[in-house]
Amino acid sequence: MRLGFYDSGLGGLSVLKAFIERFGNKFSYLYYGDSANAPYGDKNPEQLISLMKNIFEYMQEQEVDIVVSACNTSSMYLQDIDKDDYPFEILSLFEAMKKFFESHETSSPIALLATQASINSKRYLNWGVEIFPVACPRIVPFMESGHLESAKLAFDEYLSSVPPKIKTIIIGCTHYSFLVDDEHRQKYNFLDPAEIIASQFADSIYADRSFMQKTNKSDELDLNFHFTKADQSYVQTAQSLLAV
Ligand code: DGL
Repeated sequence: MRLGFYDSGLGGLSVLKAFIERFGNKFSYLYYGDSANAPYGDKNPEQLISLMKNIFEYMQEQEVDIVVSACNTSSMYLQDIDKDDYPFEILSLFEAMKKFFESHETSSPIALLATQASINSKRYLNWGVEIFPVACPRIVPFMESGHLESAKLAFDEYLSSVPPKIKTIIIGCTHYSFLVDDEHRQKYNFLDPAEIIASQFADSIYADRSFMQKTNKSDELDLNFHFTKADQSYVQTAQSLLAV
């Protein structure tokens, strides 16, 4: 059973990591990072839909069984794609969050740190919770160009714009997962869609016995990457972020 993950670049590795930590070598993993087109956060809906269609064609060629969208930004627009065009199931981070809030009642406002395109989509209004949106356009370009320290500083700046009464933050872009440290965790409760989608996968699909029979028997981790643009230092950054 092969799981395919995709993102604009490095961010989706946080989702892949959450899956590998839970399921190890039960699956084989394919990771597609569209680094040639990063960031996705400044793209319009038509561009995002077209980029996703390219990715799904690739996933089809690679005979992936299930695709996990490891990109919040494009997952906001997944509902505009006809899933029947593809032979695999596509799991969406956006839907995972929607489902999460259906079973977790919350009355206090939550901050959503996300890309400009995610915020523009306003799709988070469907989650049924009071959201304080914070667009963070500077973070992904820093990360994709290997400037992690600058990305951390930018993340801190965006966090400081969250009103003090808000104590829960949605890590609404998979890149940002890598920037959260213990100091942040002392101050806020973070909801990470990467963890949420992996845990929902464990509770639903993975818990299905007939599905379990299709999992791999191999002892070694079967993991392949496809970045649309990557030099050696980019690949090293990817490996150190994934660190599994
Ligand atoms: N990591 C992606 C997300 O979760 C895309 C970020 C970007 O390329 O701007 O939104």
